[in-house]
Amino acid sequence: MAQTNEWLRALGVRHPIFAAPMAGGPSTPELVAAVSDAGGLGFLGVGYLSPEETRAAIRRVRALTDAPFGVNVFIPEDPKGDANHTIMAMKTWLREWLDDPALADEIDGIDPHMPTLAAFEAQVDVILEERVPILSFTFGCPDADTIRWWKAAGACVIGTATTPEEAAALEQAGCDAVIAQGYEAGGHRGSFLPIDETRLIGTMALVPQVVDRVRIPVIAAGGVMDGRGIVACLALGAIAVQMGTSFLVTDESGAHPAYKRAVMEWRDRGTALTRSFSGRPARGIRNAFMEAVERAGIQVPPYPLQNTLTQPIRRRAAVLGDAERMSLWAGQGYPMAKPMPAAKRVQELVQEMERVKSLLR
Ligand SMILES: Cc1cc2nc3c(=O)[nH]c(=O)nc-3n(C[C@H](O)[C@H](O)[C@H](O)COP(=O)(O)O)c2cc1C
Repeated sequence: MAQTNEWLRALGVRHPIFAAPMAGGPSTPELVAAVSDAGGLGFLGVGYLSPEETRAAIRRVRALTDAPFGVNVFIPEDPKGDANHTIMAMKTWLREWLDDPALADEIDGIDPHMPTLAAFEAQVDVILEERVPILSFTFGCPDADTIRWWKAAGACVIGTATTPEEAAALEQAGCDAVIAQGYEAGGHRGSFLPIDETRLIGTMALVPQVVDRVRIPVIAAGGVMDGRGIVACLALGAIAVQMGTSFLVTDESGAHPAYKRAVMEWRDRGTALTRSFSGRPARGIRNAFMEAVERAGIQVPPYPLQNTLTQPIRRRAAVLGDAERMSLWAGQGYPMAKPMPAAKRVQELVQEMERVKSLLR
């Protein structure tokens, strides 16, 4: 535990609370700055941004706070086989399901591509040039030379694991710390090694296994919604928690108002892991689009091709405020989410932790 505190203290972080990077809108520079200023660690999710947009977002955080913060990137995936057939089949199915010829025409005109490695490298160059102190990543494990280069440029490097084996691979590659992301977690799973989908591991079981497997610090993610969850994760050996869904409904989060309303009001719907929106397993609140794809049993093109194909649907849903067709990423704990300013949420979490700890004495 002493080592724990030293590690966070060395980073300039006062509380063991990371606001998860949430690419695609929720993690605004305002949210990142509010959490970091309150003594937690705010994270920008730049997975969908260009290098120029990434630089602008980092500079905006810097204009708002002097506190340390992190930036999170998506490791590009290797293309797997020829997806043309599944793309065509998906376009046909979408045309029938949407019952909106203009939108279907727009989707027909899309020729989705895998992102290039050059674009990713340009984005990371920006992050290193801007001297961001903490760089985390998901969806992969760069080689040891790459991680050595990032660290030599001054970044503390944190990878994402969903199994003890992935955590060991990240340690072996040279990461400074690892996020252990449990099955409950909202958003995309960070998995990068093949896994049997019947063997997905929850946070309570994953964190101690990862803590026993690696020597680097472990950050717990998935289903942590309040001080009880934080203290539980620290008891399991984590040095901090990374909370996404809890910060999704804060005032500074850029999530669409209809999305925030769904998190607050659709309490009985529950969540599911789905590939329907992006082609990669991700957890979100069940809605009409997710259920229609699952019911159709249609093969979904791999990430990020499906993500590109469904973009026009999500864009239109945002204009209409139609949460049934948005990707409502949220963890299993979403019915416990409380809307409020992010700094207040951090203060409350710290108070809740102290209360729980005093009960355990
Ligand atoms: C809306 C949303 C977007 C997310 N985007 C990212 C991301 O860009 N990068 C990442 O590493 N994790 C992302 N995650 C996953 C979080 O890092 C974290 O694992 C998860 O939020 C923890 O579970 P919780 O939502 O129950 O707190 C996202 C989660 C949510 C809810």
